[in-house]
Amino acid sequence: MMTTRITIALSKGRIFKETLPLLAHAGIVPVDDPETSRKLILDTNDDNVKLVIIRASDVPTYVQYGAADIGVAGKDVLMEHGGEGLYEPLDLKIAQCRLMTAGPVNAPEPQGRLRIATKFVNCARRYYAEQGQQVEIIKLYGSMELAPIVGLADRIVDLVDTGNTLKANGLEPMEHIADISSRLVINKASMKMNHDVMQKFIDKIAEAVSK
Ligand code: ATP
Ligand code: PRP
Repeated sequence: MMTTRITIALSKGRIFKETLPLLAHAGIVPVDDPETSRKLILDTNDDNVKLVIIRASDVPTYVQYGAADIGVAGKDVLMEHGGEGLYEPLDLKIAQCRLMTAGPVNAPEPQGRLRIATKFVNCARRYYAEQGQQVEIIKLYGSMELAPIVGLADRIVDLVDTGNTLKANGLEPMEHIADISSRLVINKASMKMNHDVMQKFIDKIAEAVSK
């Protein structure tokens, strides 16, 4: 089958679970389960294909620098990273959600410059600049929903699926910034050097997505 060595970067949890059937369609089955194994490099049934298990937000960086040839990353993560050095040939239609602004239910319009808590600082800055709105952005690494409750921020920029997390914290979705799903990304140099192998892989995954 493949003679070129390929490394695929994935995060565990949602993306790993939803990517597994797509990889299986391309004939790639991991030998270990990242939820139970402590290994960061997983072997697969194909000696030439390895999976590296990393933080979701690190996937574009690994692929950009060629530490992985291929990756699966949320559009949110790619928008935040900027996409430098990456081809983004395919929407995998998995891990679908929306990037939104949110704030306390029935909150009066805050006076002065809005304070926005988010881990998506670049997306937030870009969005509010497009709106012509002056904001102060506060970088957080998680649990953004807490920020308005404790008075750290007026609003948040976060991912929303069912809206349950917002609701459970007295918040409501406000403005829609982007529809999010996970994308296949490929290192630009790998794509050039191993064009046929990469294209075959992309085609197989595309077939699985449209099934
Ligand atoms: P990191 O470890 O880098 O902080 P994370 O903990 O956000 O990342 P996951 O929760 O596994 O990682 O999310 C991975 C991707 O799945 C996100 O980048 C996003 O594209 C998508 N996603 C996140 N939350 C949801 C959700 N509730 N429903 C559907 N897709 C989601
Ligand atoms: C994501 C995201 C939101 C939540 C939105 O968190 O950061 O908090 O999902 O989904 P909902 O609208 O359906 O409630 P996730 O569940 O991945 O938790 P984690 O990132 O903290 O692991």
